[in-house]
Amino acid sequence: MVTRRKFLRQSASAIAAGLTIPSMLGDNKLFAHPVGANDKVRVGLIGCRNMGWSDLSDFLIHPEVDCVALCDIDKQVLDGRAGDIKKLRNTTPELYGDYRKLLDRKDIDAVIIGTPDHWHCLQTVDACAAGKDVYVEKPIANSIAECDAMVAAVKKYNRVVQVGQQQRSGNHWHEMKRYIDSGKLGKIARVEVWANFNYGALSLPVPDSPVPAGVDFDMWLGPAPKRTFNKERFHGSWRMFWDYGGGLLTDWGVHLLDMALWGMNVKGMPKRVIGAGGKFAYPQNSPETFDTLSVVYEYDDFLIQWSNVAGTETGPYGRNYGLAFKGTNGTLVANRESWEVIPEGNKAEAINSLPNFQDHKDHVANFLSCMKSRNFDTACTIDNGSLCAKYAHLGNISARVGASLVYDDLKKTFNNKEADKLIKPTYRNPWKFPQL
Ligand SMILES: NC(=O)c1ccc[n+]([C@@H]2O[C@H](COP(=O)([O-])OP(=O)(O)OC[C@H]3O[C@@H](n4cnc5c(N)ncnc54)[C@H](O)[C@@H]3O)[C@@H](O)[C@H]2O)c1
Repeated sequence: MVTRRKFLRQSASAIAAGLTIPSMLGDNKLFAHPVGANDKVRVGLIGCRNMGWSDLSDFLIHPEVDCVALCDIDKQVLDGRAGDIKKLRNTTPELYGDYRKLLDRKDIDAVIIGTPDHWHCLQTVDACAAGKDVYVEKPIANSIAECDAMVAAVKKYNRVVQVGQQQRSGNHWHEMKRYIDSGKLGKIARVEVWANFNYGALSLPVPDSPVPAGVDFDMWLGPAPKRTFNKERFHGSWRMFWDYGGGLLTDWGVHLLDMALWGMNVKGMPKRVIGAGGKFAYPQNSPETFDTLSVVYEYDDFLIQWSNVAGTETGPYGRNYGLAFKGTNGTLVANRESWEVIPEGNKAEAINSLPNFQDHKDHVANFLSCMKSRNFDTACTIDNGSLCAKYAHLGNISARVGASLVYDDLKKTFNNKEADKLIKPTYRNPWKFPQL
């Protein structure tokens, strides 16, 4: 029988001996591997309501995964998900309201972090320090400084981390990347990225109200500023308020900008970022973040531009969200449904390519495979997640201060004092910004 411990030891020896483990091969990063029934992986989920649960559901497809712990600050969510696991697996995970108690458990190998963005940094750093591998949802953090802290923690504690940007495991995105790399599009001078969604933008303000029964609201706020409870700033809709999220640019933008940066082989900061936006479509509505936003990221010989506008759910090339790589031979248009090449005259071939819609399942499988082989090069590493999260924050910060900005990622400063104030949040006592 191959015990879990024995499997991990054998994998480590194989790596030390220079042998190739399947998951270390580039192409295998894309696809699920069958894993031996006895190689138990014990996971805990922190933040169980929506995406955290979707993540866990794809972990539980794998018979070797046991969910031994759930943590949420909302008792109703917690009890509901415990019931779901009972139905799925007939097991009873331990329930927690404080993630630090869950992390104290020595038998947990990995945690899934499905909390709002303002919590990702502390929980990831603490999980790494506790020796857990981490599957953390995107955007990795709600500020530039938190991205840096998370990257440092993952490296310091040597953990396997997957960022929940599942497009990195999508077969048709990899085909798209290969097509771009082939050079057939000619010179790509501009990448357009857009997401026109109404969700979040249509909500009307509601008065503050008592904290719902069973909710530990102070623990929901965590490091964010103290305030009274308001339903609009809570479950789901928190992403449209600066203390917890960054609107569509951080919510959808990281998925799509990730593809733009990957496609163009961008590894660092742009020369300059120019953002402009406001609450132009629905000025009376509750969100603080921009319902209308344009951002240009400038490089030596091309531009990447982002745009979102609420009040319309249509967009270029008949797609309400997507990317267009504008090459001199043709335009490659992509989103989760397909990618296609629209030739300029007869300079490129017309192509239409469909996905297998396995992105998320393959992303989770890749993480499990990397955990077992101690392969730190997951399909979406903390560095990948950090780069595009920083891009999203750069765009928002430029629009918030109303200035074109240059960000120096070595000195960790902008060329603008107001923008500098938005690099790092002030954590509310007793929470401390991680020191690494
Ligand atoms: N990868 C994707 O495609 C995708 C899709 C949707 C959401 N997301 C990401 O997933 C994350 C969660 O989004 P959501 O839509 O599920 O939000 P949500 O508000 O529906 O759920 C968040 C859950 O976290 C819980 N929570 C908050 N603070 C907590 C704490 N300190 N400890 C434990 N639990 C806590 C909340 O009570 C809630 O149950 C976000 O970062 C979001 O960007 C990713």
